Amino acid sequence: MVFSTLLVGAALASSVSAACTRAQLQDLTVAYIKAQTSGDPKQLPLAANVSYLENDAMLDISKGVLSQKVTVDFNRSLYDTTQCATFTELSAATNSHPYVIDTRILLNDEGKVATVQSLVADAGDWVFDAKSQLSWTQKEKWDTIPEGKRDTRAVLQAAGDLYLDSWTDSNVKVPYGTPCARLEGGSYTGSSNANANTCKMPKFPEDFKIKNRRYIIDEELGGLDIFNDFPFIDKQKPNGTASGNFIRVEGGMIRYIHETTICTTKGCGR
Ligand SMILES: *[C@@H]1O[C@H](CO)[C@@H](O)[C@H](O)[C@H]1NC(C)=O
Ligand SMILES: *[C@@H]1O[C@H](CO)[C@@H](O)[C@H](O)[C@H]1NC(C)=O
Ligand SMILES: *[C@@H]1O[C@H](CO)[C@@H](O)[C@H](O)[C@H]1NC(C)=O
Repeated sequence: MVFSTLLVGAALASSVSAACTRAQLQDLTVAYIKAQTSGDPKQLPLAANVSYLENDAMLDISKGVLSQKVTVDFNRSLYDTTQCATFTELSAATNSHPYVIDTRILLNDEGKVATVQSLVADAGDWVFDAKSQLSWTQKEKWDTIPEGKRDTRAVLQAAGDLYLDSWTDSNVKVPYGTPCARLEGGSYTGSSNANANTCKMPKFPEDFKIKNRRYIIDEELGGLDIFNDFPFIDKQKPNGTASGNFIRVEGGMIRYIHETTICTTKGCGR
């Protein structure tokens, strides 16, 4: 009896690990960073029909930023074993062409890369300042959350959703922690008071909904990223420009937010 229970347990464990392990996703982000620093997308296990998007536009992978050698100064990743997907933020401040690159990678059932989707921010994008972005992200602590203190996927996603919903609905209660700091492009709210909640958003002067939310969620790191279409900010793209919010949650409360928003014209025309 005990023996057969053990066998069933082993079979279940192996079928779960066959789906997608954290180690596999960690290897994937290492390969991604190698691809970006060498300018060689083939460092990644690409599916034959991989789709590659930059700032929501389909692009030939050999013509994109992933085919340029970029010096990476700092990186941070999320590993979503439920979706077999990763998120990585690359800070490339000392590169000859400074960038902040936020990338979602989704694997297919064969463990190959089905899609690479990046926000490629550089000069002219929303409050872009790669040096400042690098210096603040390096100071933040996104340590592994101890087992037993981890939030569920639902709690993590809700924290991010409430934050985005609050931009136009001031009745929404966002679970901001104290402290909470937002790194928007290169501009840091926590520089004025590192011990306070400086994340609270004033209500936007127009009504809009943040749509097309695409999530990567990592319970171990208390992290989530939401690619989304951000209306209003870019005068050329009233229906929404490519944007992402990379959020750290501790005990259900938001600790850090990084926002990357792409602009069609310098500073989104503001
Ligand atoms: C890519 O190919 C796989 C089979 O190898 C297929 O399942 C999948 O639907 C294809 N994806 C697209 C976007 O065509
Ligand atoms: C990416 O981050 C990892 C973990 O902090 C670090 O070990 C690695 O050196 C970084 N890679 C680059 C190219 O900065
Ligand atoms: C924005 O969306 C509306 C409604 O779908 C559409 O009529 C309009 O052409 C769109 N504007 C732009 C600039 O894409």
